[in-house]
Amino acid sequence: MSEIKASVSPDIVWHSHVLGKAQREAANGHPALVIWFTGLSGSGKSTLAGALEQALFSRGIKTYLLDGDNVRHGLCSDLGFSETDRRENIRRVGEISKLMVDAGLVVLTAFISPDKKGRQKIRESMKEGTFIEVHVDTPLEVCEARDPKGLYKKARAGELRHFTGIDAAYEAPEQPDIYLDGSQPVGISIEKLLFILKNYGILPE
Ligand code: ADX
Repeated sequence: MSEIKASVSPDIVWHSHVLGKAQREAANGHPALVIWFTGLSGSGKSTLAGALEQALFSRGIKTYLLDGDNVRHGLCSDLGFSETDRRENIRRVGEISKLMVDAGLVVLTAFISPDKKGRQKIRESMKEGTFIEVHVDTPLEVCEARDPKGLYKKARAGELRHFTGIDAAYEAPEQPDIYLDGSQPVGISIEKLLFILKNYGILPE
């Protein structure tokens, strides 16, 4: 944790502890960073993030997965799907992710996170190379055909408002760090992820 927000009261002073991220990374034997999955509902973010977490965990990497649907049961249970609420959802997740990175973990997040600026803000508040944006690019038609929770059907019937891709916008990353074709089999995407993640020092070359 390095940055101090301009909006923080001058009476609140950052306390630097002796034990920090560097010591925790050294103890874990790998760098700490965030692997941020973004994409439409039903694109496969949670499935891919879960499968990647298993693959990393089995290789001895200290991981934690933050999943949109789960976080909305607790930390963000007071938030809905208006633009303001989604911005706050992603801001909180960004802050929690940074704490977890400070704790020495490889954090995987699976949130629609439709707002480009929100994602950019988190990237800018982190050390370079520690925010890895993964775009799970799955055509809307494919997500809608999958419709694992029946939410697209509800949105089309007008029973669910502000649904991403239907009546709320999704701003795809223009230059994600990792691009995944979400119609591909999960195994292929995991292989690609593991190969690219070697560049970030969390897996041996
Ligand atoms: S985000 O836009 O704020 O990043 P988040 O990833 O936390 O969204 O939650 C998305 C999940 O909430 C979807 O996968 C879906 O299951 C559910 N959901 C319920 N209502 C909506 C909605 N209006 N738009 C998108 N997803 C919704």
